[in-house]
Amino acid sequence: MPNPSAARDRAQQLSEQLHKHNIAYYVHDNPSIPDAEYDRLLRELQNLENTYPELKTADSPTQKVGAAALSSFTQVTHRVPMLSLDNAFSEDEMQAFEKRIFDRLKDQTALAFSCEPKLDGLAVSIVYENGVLVQAATRGDGTVGENITENVRTIANVPLRLDNAVTFPQRLEVRGEVFISKAGFENLNATQKDKGEKVFANPRNAAAGSLRQLDSRITAKRPLKFYAYSFGEASADASLAATHSERLAQLNQWGLPLCPDIATTTGIQGCIDYYQLILQKRQALPYDIDGVVFKVNDIDIQQRLGFVARAPRWAIAQKFPAQEETTQLLDVEFQVGRTGAITPVAKLEPVFVGGVTVSNATLHNQDEIDRLGVCIGDTVIVRRAGDVIPQIVSVVLEHRPENASKIQFPVCCPVCDSTLVRIEGEAVIRCTSGLICQAQRKQAIKHFASRKALDIDGLGDKIVDQLVDANLISTPADLFGISIAQLIGLERMAEKSASNLITALESAKTTSLAKFLYALGIREVGETTAQNLAAHFLTLEAIKEADLEALIEVQDVGNIVAEHVVNFFSAQHNVDVVDALIEAGINWPVIEKLDTDKPLPLLDKVFVLTGTLAAMSRSDAKLLLQQQGAKVTGSVSAKTDVLIAGEAAGSKLTKAQALNIDIWDEAALLSFFNENQIDLS
Ligand code: IVH
Repeated sequence: MPNPSAARDRAQQLSEQLHKHNIAYYVHDNPSIPDAEYDRLLRELQNLENTYPELKTADSPTQKVGAAALSSFTQVTHRVPMLSLDNAFSEDEMQAFEKRIFDRLKDQTALAFSCEPKLDGLAVSIVYENGVLVQAATRGDGTVGENITENVRTIANVPLRLDNAVTFPQRLEVRGEVFISKAGFENLNATQKDKGEKVFANPRNAAAGSLRQLDSRITAKRPLKFYAYSFGEASADASLAATHSERLAQLNQWGLPLCPDIATTTGIQGCIDYYQLILQKRQALPYDIDGVVFKVNDIDIQQRLGFVARAPRWAIAQKFPAQEETTQLLDVEFQVGRTGAITPVAKLEPVFVGGVTVSNATLHNQDEIDRLGVCIGDTVIVRRAGDVIPQIVSVVLEHRPENASKIQFPVCCPVCDSTLVRIEGEAVIRCTSGLICQAQRKQAIKHFASRKALDIDGLGDKIVDQLVDANLISTPADLFGISIAQLIGLERMAEKSASNLITALESAKTTSLAKFLYALGIREVGETTAQNLAAHFLTLEAIKEADLEALIEVQDVGNIVAEHVVNFFSAQHNVDVVDALIEAGINWPVIEKLDTDKPLPLLDKVFVLTGTLAAMSRSDAKLLLQQQGAKVTGSVSAKTDVLIAGEAAGSKLTKAQALNIDIWDEAALLSFFNENQIDLS
């Protein structure tokens, strides 16, 4: 064995070589040495590390085998939110996508697009610092995901270290899809079967199950792959190309694998041709896809187009026609939803479609039943597209049996027996007894406890069902009065889980106004609307008192939503529940009440935020600026008054400089907040 210093030098040399060979093999599909030679180098490094364990670094090429099991995943907040994509299901919708862009840009010039297969796996964010993989996370809700660093480190084609032949940003966040190829899936299932273990329904489930293992040594044995498709953030020290496709090429140069079937094209017709090409190749492709993704290639134009709620305006996923199968309609059940809507659910002879076994499909409402003309006993065509709820597409009339029977819509609520109503102009039939109806109670409480609402850990659907059935609770507020003894009395509830649940209830009491509003389950008030309402009104009292006129002032709130909000707060039983919740101790940090005597310092000033802020998220900064009267928009124009440029600011900064617009860095923003005594907490 060499002496320690010679060993260190040799280990470093081997590590360098092996990293390069890995990238050549896995990323560029171009092995630089024979396998036997690679194995020999790897063994030599392993031996050195065994003799001198201090040489074993986290990013050593020997460290692809997984680490000790975790007890749970920690959370990771994405500095730049992970968004989703709008879908198009037809050429018309693709044309509409292009028209929206043209209208916004006020320019009809055909655009260049990056065309990419839409891989059917899981979105993952991977962070490299100084070229070393330091963190990997799932998408989660787009803002907070799970820390799966140890698992991602085991994926063969994910480099633990970037190729240092080309300068890369000191901090680089790469986004892409983790998936299992069709062949990998077949092998995995064959192995699982041999071992008498569970087989997976489809490659996507196998990838999800493998990625969410607490024991990364298991993940290491699964044939996971990664293809990068975008950047999250990149520090400003390395220059990034001006188009998306060139940026992908940069990622590739740094050692990140790309899907081999990506292309670029011009104009929507080019996109449609690409779609047809990939659709034809679909069966033959080595991986599963559920459509293709088109992204405006020019980053400057992307930034001008910006985002709507959760998706960029500059990208779209064109989905493939859903996969369809025939089966038999055995029966129809009627379910009562959170808002009392009665949904007919088709009970089907189980059928394998779109990669899973389907035994239920929604029939939506009476109109849909009429449109389909479907009877119980019919042979029907079922469609399951991606992870969309299975649908009945049509009836195979020539197979209708003699004894087929008409579907009878109930006249009374199947749960609480009260009379159902159909409001004029609406397709939905509803039970209007609200929280008196057990079904609505259960749904309302489940919604209240759900992750995006109060996020009450350990309060699963089964427990809510039991608590409501035992008449221990009838409103969300009652949750906070449950005793540990009552919980222990429930079926299959151990003392430990009961006490955990009590603790979770206690900690769920501190929330935000937006989450609380969302948790109330007001019709049509989703997460974004709740956030907008909270940002606009700042207090619950103001929202309760707001009339229609005041409500439609709020971003994205129209007449219908405004009416639902007013109706909600004018029903005494709702006000009682809200009061009881506050009484029970639900609280949130006060959103600074504005001093109306003092003019707002930023009234009507137009701000744009770009780059990464260290002290707060961009959305928090936006909210604080808006509270001071500013308008915050997505793109720099002559109308912009101030550009806030965080770290790694790109083309917006260049544009603002060109237009001679005031530019504040983060320090200037913080000192503005400080001077105006704005609380950042
Ligand atoms: S881009 C802002 N590109 O599709 C753009 N997504 O709803 C965000 N996906 O879960 C995504 N292939 O994981 C993009 N070439 C591709 C993709 C892709 C698959 C997934 C992605 C996300 C979903 C988008």
